[in-house]
This record gives sequence, structure tokens and C-alpha cells, in this order.
Amino acid sequence: MAQGTTNISRSIHFDLVTGLSKDIESLKRYLSNMRGMYLDNDSLEEKIAQNDELIYEFHDPKVPEKDTEVTFGTSITYPGLVGEEYYMTKGHFHVQLETSEVYYCLKGFGYMLMESPEGEWEAREMRPGVAVYVPGRYAHRSINASLEEPLVSFFSFRGDAGHNYGTIETQGFRKLCVQREGKPEFIDNPRWNPKK
Ligand SMILES: [Fe+2]
Repeated sequence: MAQGTTNISRSIHFDLVTGLSKDIESLKRYLSNMRGMYLDNDSLEEKIAQNDELIYEFHDPKVPEKDTEVTFGTSITYPGLVGEEYYMTKGHFHVQLETSEVYYCLKGFGYMLMESPEGEWEAREMRPGVAVYVPGRYAHRSINASLEEPLVSFFSFRGDAGHNYGTIETQGFRKLCVQREGKPEFIDNPRWNPKK
């Protein structure tokens, strides 16, 4: 509910447990949207044939795409595995490569995996109460390393940053997050194909 003389501010409710909003529609990505993103293609196709599950969803409040604006929303990654790999977001660079982003974890357990165009990488744990700063130039992907509950976080970045998914679709991330002996582990991605 707003009070005042203008109507240019806005408030959106995001549930602290589910991350979902009754105020705006989420954008949804299903297993079938993740073709080419997982190492174990056969497992992915088997899962799609059985049930094309929702893997993650996120919100876009559609603030103007300008460098003076800040956009925000929640991102929810559901629990599960494709082969050994945890459910995750596609991941992206920003079109405006130098722009950074902040994620504040509300629920669950996982990682923010980051990678620069030069192949430097970092992974930061995400658990409730932890804010992760993603520096400019770093691609970023949320990974849900719990098989029990969704990974929910709130994010914010510059309004004109834009999403470049194509680079990650083509070259992948250098590291994969897999479950080994019941625990998350980062391994080299044998298909990593950085631009020369
Ligand atoms: Fe981003």
C-alpha cells in the first residue's frame, strides 16, 4: 500500500520462505530449457521424458533499462540432480560486462558460481543471511546444493545490465558442481570451451 503525492515508487511482496510473489509473474525455466547445460545429456533427456520439471524461476519487475536504475527480484532454484550435477540456473554474463550484482540468500543452501572471461572462477556459499557480491565481468550461476529444499535469494543489479546467456550456452562454466558421496564438490568441466 502506498501513501503520498506521487505514484512512482513501487512495492512488491516476495514470500520469505518460497521466494514467490503474488504481485508479479515469474519467468520459469524447465528441464527442457536446460538442454546442453548439463554434462550428462542422457540423464537430462530421460528426466524430460518422465516429467519436464520446473528447475528455477525468477522475477523481473521491469524497471526502466537505464544506468540510473536498479532492478531487483527473487530467484528460486529447486532441488534435484541431473546425473551427478545439482539443479542450477543457466548462468549469464551481463551485456554491460562491468556491472555487478548482489544476491542475498533467504532460504536453502547452495553456491554462487562465478567466472571471468579469462577463466578465473570463484564459488561462494549461499545460506540464509549471506549476501554475495558478484563483481563486474563475472558470469554467475546459482546452484542448489541441497536435495531437500529450494534455494531462494533476492538479487539486485543495474537496470541496463542485460543478460548474455549465449556465451555460457556455448562455452559452459569451467567448473561443475556435483554430488559425490552425498556432498557437493567442484570438478573441472571436460566440455569447457573458453573463447580464445
Ligand atoms: Fe546477473
